[in-house]
Amino acid sequence: MKLLVTGGAGFIGSNFIRYWLHTHPQDEIINFDKITYAGNLENLKDIEGNKNYKLVRADIVNHDVVRTVAKDVDVIVNFAAESHVDRSILDSSEFVRTNVLGTQVLLEAAKDFDLRFYHISTDEVFGSLALGSKERFNEQTPYDPRSPYSASKAASDHLVRAYIHTHGIDAIISNCANNFGPYQFPEKFIPVTITNILEGKKIPVYGDGLYVREWLYVEDHCRAIDLMINKGTLGETYCIGGMTQDVNNLEVVKKILKILGKGEDMIEFVKDRPGHDRRYAIDWSKAKRELGYEPQHDFDTYLAKTVQWYQDNQEWWQHIKSGEYKNYYATQYGNE
Ligand code: NAD
Ligand code: DAU
Repeated sequence: MKLLVTGGAGFIGSNFIRYWLHTHPQDEIINFDKITYAGNLENLKDIEGNKNYKLVRADIVNHDVVRTVAKDVDVIVNFAAESHVDRSILDSSEFVRTNVLGTQVLLEAAKDFDLRFYHISTDEVFGSLALGSKERFNEQTPYDPRSPYSASKAASDHLVRAYIHTHGIDAIISNCANNFGPYQFPEKFIPVTITNILEGKKIPVYGDGLYVREWLYVEDHCRAIDLMINKGTLGETYCIGGMTQDVNNLEVVKKILKILGKGEDMIEFVKDRPGHDRRYAIDWSKAKRELGYEPQHDFDTYLAKTVQWYQDNQEWWQHIKSGEYKNYYATQYGNE
């Protein structure tokens, strides 16, 4: 099988490419990535020499390049997106461009070349749950996005469903929880916390810190996508969750401080995120029933392993913080 993986130089995409080449060594992957600030080819250093891997540096909004590459593949796995909520609050234009228009361009290619299309979406499209409630998001939960990021992802999901319904394309959508693990860009909560502690800086906790996310280890997510590609029913949606039960941000920070043997005086409560969603939780029973999916990586063990990874790979995140990672493309692939 030949896969066109968009956004493969980002956090989940790079973990997925590594996972896929390991578990399906006969398959070929084209990593189609614009290499925005979030795209980091240092994530894929160990993959570069693999004969079944190829990078195309391009924008998913570029209709011509997308079609040239897509006409020779079997499936598209669409990770490419602007993914950080705080950035979408400052300026949402790239979110609409990439997440909405980019998805539409990919869907046109899927339609015209009869490709299977796997769209990696988020639980944030469902909105926010009340703290302390037992409610969980599932595939029937109505959409209620509340940030420009989640609104753009919701729009992209609607486009995928519209192409399934109107054009009969073969597509599946997954809506997953907050991922954590190696190679996550240090603007997201867990890597910000770990790297700030390692640098002796304060940990910025938004608002009262009592916001709840469901944490999904990135390798569990990659396996869920594999199951979706190999066993999923075309036209369906699957919610993919992790193993945490209502762990709030403050508790996450305290766990990381404990792992690193540091005190709670490193916590700094800062101004809250505007429109901050209170709680996410996922009911992944459909994925269990229909795909045989179950998360296998428990939070405490794999949070500790993630902390260890950031300790062992200081150069990786220091290159990001210094900006040096931006030079990697030119040194490996020549000037743009
Ligand atoms: P990321 O920000 O780490 O990576 C995004 C990648 O997309 C980068 O490599 C970037 O260069 C690339 N990209 C951005 N704009 C592009 C464009 N116009 N054309 C081509 N490439 C482009 O994101 P991530 O955290 O790995 O998330 C991947 C996907 O999973 C996203 O669609 C996101 O919405 C979704 N998701 C993420 C999480 C999470 O916890 N990280 C949870 C649920 C869903
Ligand atoms: O739920 C899935 C989503 O998870 C994905 O769709 C997004 O792409 C991904 O970025 C993530 O969104 P969140 O907004 O939940 O993740 P973030 O890491 O930005 O924040 C997690 C929680 O931590 C949230 O309640 C805000 C809080 N936070 C975040 C940062 C960056 C802080 O308290 N301090 C911080 O510095």
